Amino acid sequence: MTVDEPLTWIGTSWKMNGSLAFARAYATGLRARAAAGWPGIQPFLIPPATALAVVSEVLRPASGIIVGAQNAHWEQRGAWTGELSVEQVADAGATLVEIGHSERRAWFGDTDEVVHRKVLATLRAGLRPLVCVGESAEDFAAGRSVEVVTAQVSSALAGVAPGEGQAPLVAYEPIWAIGEHGREATPEDIVATVGAIADHVGDRVGSVLYGGSVNRENLTDILGVPGVGGVFVGRAAWTLTGYLALLDLAADQLAGRLNVG
Ligand code: PGA
Repeated sequence: MTVDEPLTWIGTSWKMNGSLAFARAYATGLRARAAAGWPGIQPFLIPPATALAVVSEVLRPASGIIVGAQNAHWEQRGAWTGELSVEQVADAGATLVEIGHSERRAWFGDTDEVVHRKVLATLRAGLRPLVCVGESAEDFAAGRSVEVVTAQVSSALAGVAPGEGQAPLVAYEPIWAIGEHGREATPEDIVATVGAIADHVGDRVGSVLYGGSVNRENLTDILGVPGVGGVFVGRAAWTLTGYLALLDLAADQLAGRLNVG
């Protein structure tokens, strides 16, 4: 069993979107609503690196909202043009580091080896890794989802023992379900793979999240999938209204105010 259950993680990455003015307005609006809170829910927000400091300053730890970075390098400092270290993103207020998103794996050379190094560096610095894994449409069609993602998870968490630093999160994000051209997954599409990841990681991981075209319409079904401990959202939370709607829905679902299933 993963260690953070029954806390439900609901978070978003803005990817490469948003000015400082946008970030300040979004974070300020979120802070205002966070005062009342979402019981049982752990919100997290992953802005672009340029907005990390401003979002962290607005939100502060007292808001209960975790702020994360979209990426960080495995070395602490040095001649790595264009990169940021875990220490630097921590200095800007991040306590979570997203690692191995499929866009990074596809475009920026984040191989399994690189993902593993970043996980170790994040844990070493006392931050929590959010490791993204996912299979291609071809692997899904060929029935290889479990094999592919458990291999990615094994490699990412190699040598990580339970209780060593903050328990990493794993986000299962099938590549075929992500982004504008993604196909929304049904619970049947993902239940076996989520279950296999949860069994595979056991108490080495805080929670297994699901990501890929999550929206208001499918959130309830996805959160009802056994083993899903939260969601990692892109487009549907790129407006504050969109994110708040998801947080409210998830809180209602947890409180049993909706008929699940
Ligand atoms: P999406 O992105 O919700 O826009 O499909 C998800 C992700 O990449 O994590």
